[in-house]
Amino acid sequence: MRVKFDGEKDYELSAAKAYEADKETEIAPQDRPILHLTPRVGWMNDPNGFSRYQGEYHLFYQYHPYSTNWGPMHWGHAVSSDLLTWEHRPVAMAPDEDYDYAGCFSGSAIELDDGRQLLMYTGVQREYKEDGSIGDVQVQCLAFGDGTDYVKYEKNPVLSAKDLPQGASRVDFRDPKIWRGSDGIYRCAVGSRPEDGSGQTLLYTSEDAIHWTYKKVLALNGNRIGKMWECPDFFVLDGKGILMTSPQDMEAVGLEYRAGNGSICVIGNYDEAMDEFVEESNQAVDYGIDFYAHQTVLTEDGRRVMIGWMQNWDTCGVRNPNQKWYGQMSIPREISLKNGRLMQEPIAELKQHRRDKISYENVLIDGTLRLDGIEGRYADIEVELSAADAEHIYHSVELRFAENERHYSSVGFKPYEKILTIDRRYSGVCRSVMNRSECYAGSEDGTIRLRLILDRNSIEVFADGGEKVMTMTFYTEEDAKGISFVSDGKVNMNITKYVLEK
Ligand code: FRU
Repeated sequence: MRVKFDGEKDYELSAAKAYEADKETEIAPQDRPILHLTPRVGWMNDPNGFSRYQGEYHLFYQYHPYSTNWGPMHWGHAVSSDLLTWEHRPVAMAPDEDYDYAGCFSGSAIELDDGRQLLMYTGVQREYKEDGSIGDVQVQCLAFGDGTDYVKYEKNPVLSAKDLPQGASRVDFRDPKIWRGSDGIYRCAVGSRPEDGSGQTLLYTSEDAIHWTYKKVLALNGNRIGKMWECPDFFVLDGKGILMTSPQDMEAVGLEYRAGNGSICVIGNYDEAMDEFVEESNQAVDYGIDFYAHQTVLTEDGRRVMIGWMQNWDTCGVRNPNQKWYGQMSIPREISLKNGRLMQEPIAELKQHRRDKISYENVLIDGTLRLDGIEGRYADIEVELSAADAEHIYHSVELRFAENERHYSSVGFKPYEKILTIDRRYSGVCRSVMNRSECYAGSEDGTIRLRLILDRNSIEVFADGGEKVMTMTFYTEEDAKGISFVSDGKVNMNITKYVLEK
């Protein structure tokens, strides 16, 4: 039964619906990015319930409408037919039951055979611990809906402490991701913390998606990559089993895993009949600054599309304090495997939003260069860089964007180290947190291919055909829309730029 703590408020779905409908009118369309989903009002974190339902894509999200900071979690909701232009639907869930009053945490969605849409999410409750402090307890819950309105299951929770394997934590038990196997069995991966204090992914199965049974530990961190593994997603891609998950408390390992909260992908062999997943390799998903809690959906034509929360828990102080929304989703990315590595590219539908093509071929960058028509904060840019003099390979090249007299951000490449860098130190940021990130890409002969997606407050860099991706948000003033090229040495460039439009 619910224990009420000092200062705790009651939340109601009807109040949240009225609040967001009223307050969203205070946010002008030009105060948002055009193709990246932002919260209707207030705060957004993880993508939830990214799925197809009755011919449309649904994307729910961790949502606190009442401020631009994290607070008791609701589920925001939006729908789209092309995964790029989103229409907000009313908030789907509020933390209004005894089993979820401290938050409706992350989860997933699926269409049931009877036509209903099922949401599976983590309910958070609070309790007094032995030492008198207050702690969370997490359970898994269901809600049923028609694509707009949702009703929580009267027998919630459907998974609780009694369904945990020996030693697993009641505090860190969250983010159920549901899917249906080729055998018709529903499966669900849930993030968990075993006795060793690190992370693991638990597998549950069900005949009807309502009654669930613990099956096994699907994957174990064993204190290798961060601690708790949040937000699991599991699927088969190009014949391999893929576990996407978001570790907390990572230590940097070379340029592969940076410190903090990160996005990883574990690749292995999956035997569905035995539900056996044997890890072969693991890698970072995004090598930039802002990408977390990624989730995927299978499109009608069979593409696996991934979206992530385009922020970073460690750097949430990097923001525009005057903005009435905080948090946004990445561009949806089609993913595949090539030579055992995860490949990503912006969803094909993005090309339909390109206008006003401008191309330059074989331009020389030797110092600082600006090109007519190459500017803007809403752009899809393809760049090929190479050494203009093969005998004297250039030392470095930088593409600066969101630039004015005071500020800029950049993507830089140093061939002799094969290092690609993303940098927002001069974007106007006032916080001393990670503002720069690096990864290996390109070739030491000076060749590198990049695709850059700019949408007002973010850049996503796809390098080497999507083998390396770096994502970063920045909150530079809107009139900073210059783009320039700066080199140390002689660089040859082919560039094509499009304006992105809704
Ligand atoms: C990941 C996460 C989830 C949790 C949610 C709470 O970003 O911590 O594990 O369900 O955010 O908002």
